[in-house]
Amino acid sequence: MFCLSNVFIFQLIFFAELKESFAEDFNLFGEAGQAYSIEISIGHPGQKLNVIVDTGSATLAIASYQRPDSDKYFHLKNSTSIYESGQEIQAQYSQGTWVGKLVSDYVHFPSMVNVPEVRSDIALITKSHKFFMNGSGWQGLLGLAYLPVGAWGDNVIVGSWLDSMDHMLNNPMSFQLKLCGVQGLTNATHYGNLKILDDQMVAKNESYIFRTPVLRKRWFVVGVLSVQVMSPSDSSVAKLKTENNATNFTRDRSIYEIDEDLCQRLNKQKSIVDSGTTNIRLPDELFTQVVNDLRIAAQKSNILILDEFWYHGEAACWPQPQRWSLPRLAIHLLDFDAENQYFTLELPPQNYMRVVSAREGAGRVAEFCYKLGLEAGGKETVLGYTAMEGLQVVFNRSAGWIGWKTSNCGPNATISGPYNTSSSILVKCKLIEPLSDPAISIKAAQWTLFVISMVALGVLIYLLTPCIKMLITKPLPRSQQISLSQAALVEQEGT
Ligand SMILES: *[C@@H]1O[C@H](CO)[C@@H](O)[C@H](O)[C@H]1NC(C)=O
Ligand SMILES: *[C@@H]1O[C@H](CO)[C@@H](O)[C@H](O)[C@H]1NC(C)=O
Ligand SMILES: *[C@@H]1O[C@H](CO)[C@@H](O)[C@H](O)[C@H]1NC(C)=O
Ligand SMILES: *[C@@H]1O[C@H](CO)[C@@H](O)[C@H](O)[C@H]1NC(C)=O
Ligand SMILES: *[C@@H]1O[C@H](CO)[C@@H](O)[C@H](O)[C@H]1NC(C)=O
Repeated sequence: MFCLSNVFIFQLIFFAELKESFAEDFNLFGEAGQAYSIEISIGHPGQKLNVIVDTGSATLAIASYQRPDSDKYFHLKNSTSIYESGQEIQAQYSQGTWVGKLVSDYVHFPSMVNVPEVRSDIALITKSHKFFMNGSGWQGLLGLAYLPVGAWGDNVIVGSWLDSMDHMLNNPMSFQLKLCGVQGLTNATHYGNLKILDDQMVAKNESYIFRTPVLRKRWFVVGVLSVQVMSPSDSSVAKLKTENNATNFTRDRSIYEIDEDLCQRLNKQKSIVDSGTTNIRLPDELFTQVVNDLRIAAQKSNILILDEFWYHGEAACWPQPQRWSLPRLAIHLLDFDAENQYFTLELPPQNYMRVVSAREGAGRVAEFCYKLGLEAGGKETVLGYTAMEGLQVVFNRSAGWIGWKTSNCGPNATISGPYNTSSSILVKCKLIEPLSDPAISIKAAQWTLFVISMVALGVLIYLLTPCIKMLITKPLPRSQQISLSQAALVEQEGT
């Protein structure tokens, strides 16, 4: 008992130090179990709200009505700079739907002083179903993915905030997420940092060695080749790697093969990197396999946890904070530089044993609760923020890659590789198949695409760039200012 409390105090001090040195860097925070959000200021005069930083969608969507559990929302009438398009838009999310109207207004982020204020399309949510969580600390989403996964309406294109920035600055913008998880054992609030990076101004030493290609610029679709529980012998590799600061690690020059069947199953529908999702979501059979391995490892270390925790997403609680002696989880990702190479994210148990509530004694019973950061997801693979904590992740939107680095905060996640395989992973894992049948894509879509067929969608994307340029240089009648009909787009091609 004495020993245990010593450990506890040591960790508290350790975390307290961490927090002190990085506190000024944090501009993202999330309450237990919720994704990371950032403070946004919308309109003139600025109204401050919190939005989830979401790489799984592309629209800036904000609550604009009073909900029973929250009176924080955007007051349209108070902004002098708002343009109303009069157009209805809607979106369907994996958990919930909303209906709203398309407007445009000025947007800036008080925590990112170097990022200029820009006029951006905004979806003002007027009605929603199972979208806002009860008592959630956020009032909307900041979609950071590519345009095709924006919200849609009848002949409406909803531009993304990042695209508005690109066009205003006439320069492509990337962004970096540094998610640090909880900052103490007794508080489940998690912290992180979002940084917008100008592609033209990237310092040379800011290079990313571990990069995975974005296979399709819709969501951030990547090639996830395997997700597996590492054996204890692999873990020593991880340890050595940390000492060498994740860069100049040398390993034997052997060939590492990829399980063909496994990687095909992982990417069959799609694999995406989505900061708006909490867990690592795996296709059903693979989820069972990985969780079986973890459960067996836990039993071997005499950690007694019920099956409800492992298989049904229920929380497990203890009177003290837990230090896990569980194996690392390895996620193999296709390498950007060569199609026969991959690298591995190695996640410690602090990543996947998520703290969901932490309560100290002080008169009440102390309770520290955890949930498994893995879930079954039908046929999809989603790397939620659980797979990003303890890492620094750059989304290079224009070049189409995601770069991974170890981070100075959060769980001790590491990266190893690159590993060579004998033949093209793209071919082996069938990562280069043409876009699947529209019906399937629509069903699979996290945001359902309404009305417009996939063919029309292709035309729209092709034509979009000139349209936005025209928008900026030539004032349009108010009703057309922020939404371009399909007809207008086709007309422009002729001119
Ligand atoms: C909106 O404006 C009204 C009156 O002008 C004011 O009372 C109210 O506080 C404002 N609300 C917000 C959120 O700015
Ligand atoms: C939301 O929270 C309030 C108070 O915290 C509670 O009264 C209400 O039942 C909750 N609603 C749902 C749907 O959980
Ligand atoms: C956790 O910390 C945040 C900010 O530091 C604070 O607002 C919140 O009340 C704390 N939560 C608990 C359960 O102590
Ligand atoms: C994104 O990639 C382009 C092309 O390789 C490069 O010029 C740019 O600096 C990259 N941006 C970031 C933020 O690394
Ligand atoms: C892996 O393959 C690349 C070429 O594709 C080669 O340059 C490199 O030396 C190989 N690395 C190892 C460790 O075999």
